[in-house]
This record gives sequence, structure tokens and C-alpha cells, in this order.
Amino acid sequence: MEVYLDHAATTPIHPEVLVAMQPYFTEQFGNASSLHKWGREARKAVDLAREQIADKLNIMCREVIFTSGGTEANNWAIKGVAFTREASGLKGHIITQKTEHDCVLNACKWLESRGFAVTYLDVDEFGMVNPEDLKSAIRPETFLVTIMHANNEIGTVQPLKEIGQVIKTANPAILFHTDACQSFTKEPLNLKDLNLDLITINSHKIYGPKGVGALVVKQGTKLVPLLHGGGHEFGHRSGTINVHGIMGFGKAVSLASPEKNRHMQTLRDHLIKRVLAEIPGALLNGHPTQRLVNNTNFSFPGVEGEALLLRLDAHGIAASTGSACSSNTLEASHTMMAIGRKPELAHASIRMSLGWENTLEQMDYVVEVLKDEVKQLRSMSATWRRE
Ligand SMILES: Cc1ncc(COP(=O)(O)O)c(C=O)c1O
Repeated sequence: MEVYLDHAATTPIHPEVLVAMQPYFTEQFGNASSLHKWGREARKAVDLAREQIADKLNIMCREVIFTSGGTEANNWAIKGVAFTREASGLKGHIITQKTEHDCVLNACKWLESRGFAVTYLDVDEFGMVNPEDLKSAIRPETFLVTIMHANNEIGTVQPLKEIGQVIKTANPAILFHTDACQSFTKEPLNLKDLNLDLITINSHKIYGPKGVGALVVKQGTKLVPLLHGGGHEFGHRSGTINVHGIMGFGKAVSLASPEKNRHMQTLRDHLIKRVLAEIPGALLNGHPTQRLVNNTNFSFPGVEGEALLLRLDAHGIAASTGSACSSNTLEASHTMMAIGRKPELAHASIRMSLGWENTLEQMDYVVEVLKDEVKQLRSMSATWRRE
């Protein structure tokens, strides 16, 4: 049996997404900026996708600015706001937290090297930011808070509503950005209710193509562009528009549904329940309830996560250790360290992230394989207590 459980790294392209994209590779190949028929057809496709995304988020079409993905959108949100501030002769202070995706953390570190101050908030053992800590960290010169919606490794969903209230009560001029790459279409997300100014989303976590994303920019938000050129995307982001990718992104968004989310959640709960009940010493990483509908992440003391991953692979099961971006380094995941897991427990962790096509039968197969492989690996471990 083949079981793909790495949807947090990327999903397959849904067949209906592929069908929607195909004409824009061939007969409808036009440049969306051209005035002729081919150009107009391409523009129509981009307009439709923008509308599908805007509808999902209950925002205006003009607030959706397409990018090459989540990494670009996060970099643009953070550097764009910082450069806007710098343009008025000021540096200032940014607040983020320790379990952000590397593209957020490294953009912040780079800004630190250019004279900006950054606070990296601690999280609790479940990966949650405490809004009170945020309140204490806000300074008169704070101009941006960037806190992810849901974590890519442990699935913890942050209390964005409380965080938004703390920020805007302290100082309405502070901009609030969230990286919603993992949560988009899976968790309710509303610019107004959450006091957000900027939201990063992408396509390849939701059955769309890779290399496409968007930054949602609330109307009136001042943001210096990172890419200068012909003034595409309402002057925000230049470059010939990725028509087929954007078309696929829009279609993928239109296919997401509460039923599909409920399906993933049922599988998630089944997997968590069986693993914790049937594998001695298994620990769940992340929040027990405030977690993404498709995320599971376990530590199996006495087991090397990489070794387990390879054994699962041999049984046709795809999982991951840490995030896809950091899984080829030997360092313990920064997220596991931030939630206080000891390095040996961090290295003993695997993430299994679910998708629309997974089944209950697959979950049962995975549990049986896990039980067996964890037992075998522990029998070879010098540190694991003998059962
Ligand atoms: C939380 C989070 N942010 C950002 C990214 C980067 O997105 P992209 O792969 O579209 O650049 C990812 C995906 O790897 C992610 O999980």
C-alpha cells in the first residue's frame, strides 16, 4: 500500500486543477498585460482566480497580490514594511516568535543585520504564543508584528484574534502580518475579525501548483515593492504574470471545503488516538486541540526519526522529520527546541500530515507499520529501556 502523509511539505495537484491550468500552457498562452484576444483571455483567467481567493477570504480583489509563493510573500511583507519605515528615515522594532518558518526568521535576522531590532517571543510547551508576552514586548518604535497562523511542523494554531486585539489596542499603527501557508482554507481566516493587515498564502499546500502564492495587502497599507519593473499587480509586484499557476491556485481554492477539512480531522484524530494508545511512550508534539486539521507530529523516545522515516518509506509511507526545508540538516528542529523538547526527543520525532485522498484504512495500516518498526528500532537502541 502507498500512503502519502507529507501534505504539509506539498500536495499533489488535483486533477481538476490540472484541467483548469492546461489551456494556459497551450492555446491560451497570452500575456495577461497584452491587449489582444490572447492577452484578454489570460487576464480573464487571472481575474477569476483573484476573485476565487478574495471570496474565500471575504476581501476585495485588489487586496490579493500574486507572488511566486509563500517565501516571497513573507519576505515582501516583512522587508516591504521595514523599507517603507526606513524610507521615512527611521529603523524600529519588529516582533515575531520562535517557531516561525525559516523564511520569516531569516528575513527578520537579515533586517537585524541592517539595524532593525527584532524580538523573538517564546512559546509554551504546545507552541502557543502568550498574548500577554506580546503586550509586554511592544515598544513605542514597534511597527510590525508577524506571527504565523498555524505551524508547519507541529500544527499549533495561534490565537490570532487575541494577538490582533493586543496589537491594535496598544497602537493601531502597528501592522499585523500572518503567514497562513499551512492554514489557508483549513482554518477560518478573516482580515477584519483578526485585525490583520497582511496575510501570506500559497497554492502548493492545497492541491494547486508550486511556485504560486499571494500576499493579501489590506487596502491602504503602505508597502514598498521588492520587485521593480513594469508595475504589474497594481504596481505592487512587477513581472510577467504566471497565468497558468494563478489559474491553478484559484481552482484549488474553489475545491477546498469544510467537508474535506472534516474528513482530514477524522483521520487525524483516529491516528493520534491509536498511536498514543498503542505505542508505549509515544508523545504528541503540538497542541492537543488548537491544531491544524491535517497535522500529527509524534516523538518516539528511543527511536531516531530519520531511521524511522526510511523504514516507513520502505513500506510505501511518506512522512517527514521537521519541516521539508530543514529535513536535510542534522540540527534539531528550532520548533522542537522552542517547545522545550530535549534534542534526543526532537530527533525522535516524525510529522505525518494528511490530505483529502487519505483513508481510514491507510491510517490503520500506518499504525500497524509504526508499531512494528518502533519496536524493532528500540530493540537496537542502547538508550531505550527494555520493555
Ligand atoms: C508556514 C510556511 N510558510 C512559508 C512556506 C514557504 O512557502 P513556499 O514553499 O510557497 O515558498 C511554507 C512552505 O514550505 C510554510 O509551511
